[in-house]
Amino acid sequence: TKPVIIDTDPGLDDAVAILFALTSGKFDVRGITTVAGNLGIDVTTRNAGRLLALLGRSDIPVVSGATAPLSRPGIDEAAIHGDDGLGGTTLPEPQKPALEGADEWLEKTLLAFPDRSLEILALGPLTNIALLIQRNPDAARRIGRIIAMGGAIEEKGNVGPRSEFNFAFDPEAAEIVFASGIDTTLIPLDVTRKVRADADYLARLRSGPVAAKTAGNLIAAYFQDGRQSRPLHDPCVMLYAAAPEIFGIDRIALKVDFTDDPGALLRAAGGIDLKVAMGIDADAAKDVLATGLIG
Ligand code: BDR
Ligand code: CA
Repeated sequence: TKPVIIDTDPGLDDAVAILFALTSGKFDVRGITTVAGNLGIDVTTRNAGRLLALLGRSDIPVVSGATAPLSRPGIDEAAIHGDDGLGGTTLPEPQKPALEGADEWLEKTLLAFPDRSLEILALGPLTNIALLIQRNPDAARRIGRIIAMGGAIEEKGNVGPRSEFNFAFDPEAAEIVFASGIDTTLIPLDVTRKVRADADYLARLRSGPVAAKTAGNLIAAYFQDGRQSRPLHDPCVMLYAAAPEIFGIDRIALKVDFTDDPGALLRAAGGIDLKVAMGIDADAAKDVLATGLIG
């Protein structure tokens, strides 16, 4: 198991990803840093603590981070994730108060770990990581790798025509992270939209033990708009870390749009060369996810 930090804005699909990370036995989760994104920072931070409390893992620190994007107003997603961020799913309250100051905590933690040994699984806007890079670039360079859900390459966006939520929320932060030279792999909508939960998948999860059942309930809340299947965006980050062989990775030179469709990733000669997951065996991905959640 590899030591990881989850940077997240839970959020229904974030919550499923966190449950998988905690139950699959494939990760050594050293902390959860939270960011404003799907909901405000108080809600995303509380939700991280609630998920840890559910699984008896309140030994893992939760550290709250950025309350807003670096230089823009946020985007409100409560219509998708519910006012509580988790679609009204019943969960215990956090067992411990969260720490504050994600960028400072990341700096200290990275300096305390061997160089390049810690990976960051990034499930929300990249504001906390950008703040870390601005605060202490040498500490940030100690990150082993960042796997980040975000962007849309050939797919259309889910905020603007080409822009995806996490990078649309804070495009400046995305650009800072991409330009930092830290080994970064993007998991865009091109693959996450292929990993879809339908009613049968829900039933499979709900027949399992607590993490699986809760994941099923969270995904069910995601269906409240009446759709027959929903994409499991953020779990794909954990799946790439756990089972890279089911993904196909391309290297693509990209630049971030800040004006017409903020957060859109444009192919550009002279853009930043990034690793991007463009292929996935979706059935295998869903199987790895269910197996990890069911335990
Ligand atoms: C991303 O945006 C959020 O709403 C989801 O949690 C996911 O991280 C998908 O565009
Ligand atoms: Ca998210």
